Amino acid sequence: MTSYVPSDADAALFGNRFATAEVPSTTFPTSGMSPTDALRLVGEDIALEGDPARNLATFVTTWMEPQAQRIIAENLHRNFIDHAEYPRTAEIEQRCIRMLADLFNAPGETTGARTQGSSEAIMLGALSLKWNWRTRQAAAGKSTDRPNLVFGGDVHVVWEKFCRYFDVEPRIVPLSPGKYTIGPDDVAPHVDENTIGVAAVLGTTFTGHKDDVVGINDLLVRIKKERGLDVPLHVDGASGGFVWPFLYPDSPWDFRLEQVRSINVSGHKFGLVYPGIGWLIFREKSDLAPDLVFEENYLGKTDATFTLNFSTGSSMVLAQYYNLVRYGRDGYTYIMKNMQENARVLADKLEAMGRFEIIGREEEQLPLVAFRLSGDENFNEFDIAWQLSAERGWMVPAYTLPPNAQDVTIMRALVKETMSREHVDTLAHDIEDACATLTRKGGAHPSERAKIVTGPGH
Ligand SMILES: Cc1ncc(COP(=O)(O)O)c(C=O)c1O
Repeated sequence: MTSYVPSDADAALFGNRFATAEVPSTTFPTSGMSPTDALRLVGEDIALEGDPARNLATFVTTWMEPQAQRIIAENLHRNFIDHAEYPRTAEIEQRCIRMLADLFNAPGETTGARTQGSSEAIMLGALSLKWNWRTRQAAAGKSTDRPNLVFGGDVHVVWEKFCRYFDVEPRIVPLSPGKYTIGPDDVAPHVDENTIGVAAVLGTTFTGHKDDVVGINDLLVRIKKERGLDVPLHVDGASGGFVWPFLYPDSPWDFRLEQVRSINVSGHKFGLVYPGIGWLIFREKSDLAPDLVFEENYLGKTDATFTLNFSTGSSMVLAQYYNLVRYGRDGYTYIMKNMQENARVLADKLEAMGRFEIIGREEEQLPLVAFRLSGDENFNEFDIAWQLSAERGWMVPAYTLPPNAQDVTIMRALVKETMSREHVDTLAHDIEDACATLTRKGGAHPSERAKIVTGPGH
């Protein structure tokens, strides 16, 4: 049969050239296409991806209110860095920083920055740790050759990335089976005069728990008194920074603790804003290394900025401010408690199935359920992830934990704002069905296993 090539006139009248033609993908296109064709081309491509509403792997916001979406759509053309032209946007960034410093119990006036996400905030925060350490060492006439940073194996990969990019020795405390966070006894042997800081996680990517921030703070206070080493503590609150203040307001992890000098949080996770927005907040202005700040004369106005990139949109800053004033403490607390309640119900349902162990549900935790098979089955957690996605489109990741807990496989379902009770009931039912299918067929086929996503998501 000869191939059918529609005329341009027919394609223009009835539809889309790319209904039958291959899409441009390798060379820079010679001629363009109509806006309708371009819209359909992109739309049809991404329609083949997963549905964000069933993505329980990601911590990142997948739904915002229509009014917030309107703010985002109406401000995409406003370059955030042009403070001279858009001074109100710059002021709104500062308001968000002050509100977050207040939420994190900063003792007085402070400083911070909007970033693209927690990764940029961590790079900047850790650079500040490094440069402040260098200044301290130089003032004491000591070597600045071998900086190190102490953190647990439960951190996000960005901490190792920082160490590699910025030439700092990573001192990583390994995990072990059954122990998925770190505390003062883990940290103590690694701290010396070349330690630029210790990083603790509030809400780990792996199980949603927190490092023993109080214990690590107490250790560092003791080291300061006994050995004269003032080692700062940075809290990676990428997810937890917008959860703990509302679910566990009496549990200290923030600037209430003396050695906590800086905190990062992702606005686009439990700050409930679309990607990408993150925040870096210092305890006091003096915690920001002065060398990080650039005085720029740009478009007629001198500005003091510290960022890794320059131009970026204003929409997410404005959307963050929208959320802060729209929800306030009461609204965030209501939303977080709803998520926590639905996570509790999901954990109960999984436990009632009799084949799963829930990980650390009695501890302070992000609104999620981390679970694993408790007994011998003829299938594993990766198979469940595969079957669930094949049968119902749910994205629930299965992954192994970092060393030395690499033999432990877990699954994790985020319970976010859009995960209603009806969704929880359906998901639990679908997990039960997936397990029933796997019992019958005896695990996933090797070709299916090869397609399983094995990372923890982010
Ligand atoms: C604990 C933790 N730190 C840092 C990050 C990186 O954050 P972002 O994606 O905002 O750059 C993540 C992302 O999941 C995280 O969970």
